[in-house]
Amino acid sequence: MKGLFITLEGIEGCGKTTQLRLLSEHLEQRGAGVTVTREPGGTPLAEALRGLLLDPATGGISPLSELMMYAAARAQHVDAVIRPALDRGGVVLCDRFCDSTLAYQGGGRGICMDEIRTLNALATGGLAPDLTLLFDLPVETGLARSGRRGAPDRIEGEPADFHRRVRDAFLDIARAEPRRITIIDASAPVEDVFRSVCAVVDGLFQTRQNATLGGSAPPDRA
Ligand SMILES: Nc1ncnc2c1ncn2[C@@H]1O[C@H](COP(=O)(O)OP(=O)(O)O)[C@@H](O)[C@H]1O
Ligand SMILES: [Mg+2]
Repeated sequence: MKGLFITLEGIEGCGKTTQLRLLSEHLEQRGAGVTVTREPGGTPLAEALRGLLLDPATGGISPLSELMMYAAARAQHVDAVIRPALDRGGVVLCDRFCDSTLAYQGGGRGICMDEIRTLNALATGGLAPDLTLLFDLPVETGLARSGRRGAPDRIEGEPADFHRRVRDAFLDIARAEPRRITIIDASAPVEDVFRSVCAVVDGLFQTRQNATLGGSAPPDRA
């Protein structure tokens, strides 16, 4: 696979969508072909599942059913959007991915993390991000920000304790995979957060470029 897969993660209101927009502009200016997408969603089927998952009118969904709806959306999204874009050599920026399922369905709902990992691996065919940016901030700050968007969706409406478990799970996941996941202080102003994002992403591009140059086949010997 030739492309670059970057995911943005974190609790409600941490600034994922804001930073995703800024980052996509930044990368397009550098001449990269960028696909911006989100989970759950990114295809008509997955967006329909998103509607059901986030609409409070859907009512109760059992934790296992919820887990599988996210996985079903992800399988379609990876197959129809993410993998093809990476195969074309593009950069894919995705608002939430597998780590959100671990944090929300594992940390939040209490489903066994290893079972979620197995299901994630099945849904993605083993595809993992090259880089994950985890935007971290206190739950109260995040919920205050997302509250300004209007009425809470089915997940935002969960109690603060639920969101605290989600945040803690995200931090545990990041500590276990420090090479893939960079934690970014999301309580700072938008411009400061974006500066941190650029430092990490530009560093990854540089590393890739060096690897391509240094790793090219040696010239044929006469
Ligand atoms: N660093 C920041 N400081 C203050 N407000 C922010 C910051 N980043 C985003 N916001 C605002 O907070 C709200 C939630 O941001 P958003 O990017 O939608 O978060 P998410 O996608 O993670 O839920 C938006 O109104 C956005 O303008
Ligand atoms: Mg968002």
